[in-house]
Amino acid sequence: MLKSTDVLWHQATVSRRRREELNSHRSALIWFTGLSGSGKSTLAHAVEERLHIAARRTFVLDGDNVRHGLCGDLGFSEKDRIENIRRVGETAKLFLEAGVITLTAFISPFRSDRERVRSILPHGDYLEIFCNCPLEICEKRDVKGLYKKARLGEIKNFTGISSPYEKPDAPDLLVDTYSSSIEECVDKVLQLLKSRGIVE
Ligand code: PPS
Repeated sequence: MLKSTDVLWHQATVSRRRREELNSHRSALIWFTGLSGSGKSTLAHAVEERLHIAARRTFVLDGDNVRHGLCGDLGFSEKDRIENIRRVGETAKLFLEAGVITLTAFISPFRSDRERVRSILPHGDYLEIFCNCPLEICEKRDVKGLYKKARLGEIKNFTGISSPYEKPDAPDLLVDTYSSSIEECVDKVLQLLKSRGIVE
C-alpha cells in the first residue's frame, strides 16, 4: 500500500494568494456548529446568499448533503463522527486553497474535532459560529421528526439525547438562533466577517 510518506507535495503555480487576488477577497472557513435543528444550515445558506449577491465566491458544505456522497459510508458512532469532521475539514482546506469562502453546517459535537480543523488551517482562517438553541426548543421544533424517533429509541446515538454535544468554550461568534431572526443572525455573521477583513 502507498504510504503518505512516499508521496511528495506538488506546489501549485496558481497559488491561493493569486486566486484571492483574482476574486478580490480572501477565503476563510465559516464553521457553524450546534444541535440538530439549531439552524446551522438555514443560517449558512442565508449568509451565503448575501455573500453571493455581493459577488463573493462561496460554497456551503452541509452535513445532510455530504453524508450522501463523500461521507456516505459513515454513521453516527463517535468514531464515524470524528472521521466525518476530519474529511470535511480536509475538504474545506482545499476549498480555501481554491479561494472560496467556505461555510460548513455540521453538528460537529466534539470540541477536539473542531479544534483539529482549526489547527490544519493558517491562523485566523477558521471562524467558529455557535448556533445556540436549547435542546428543548430543537426537540419541540423537530423539523425532521428525528428527536421523536430518538426518544422512542428508533435512532441510536442521537445528539443531545443519547450522544453528547460539547458546546464551544470560546466561539468566534455565538448566535441565539432561538430568539433572534435569521436576518439578525446573518447580520452578526457578516459583521464578524467584516471585523476579520474577509469582506468590506
Ligand atoms: S456530525 O455529528 O457532525 O457528524 O453530524 P452531521 O454530519 O452534521 O449530520 C447531522 C444530520 O444527520 C441527521 N442525523 C443525525 N444527527 C444527529 N445524531 C444522529 N444520530 C443522527 N442521525 C441522523 C440529522 O438530520 C442531522 O442534520 P441537522 O441539519 O443537524 O439537523
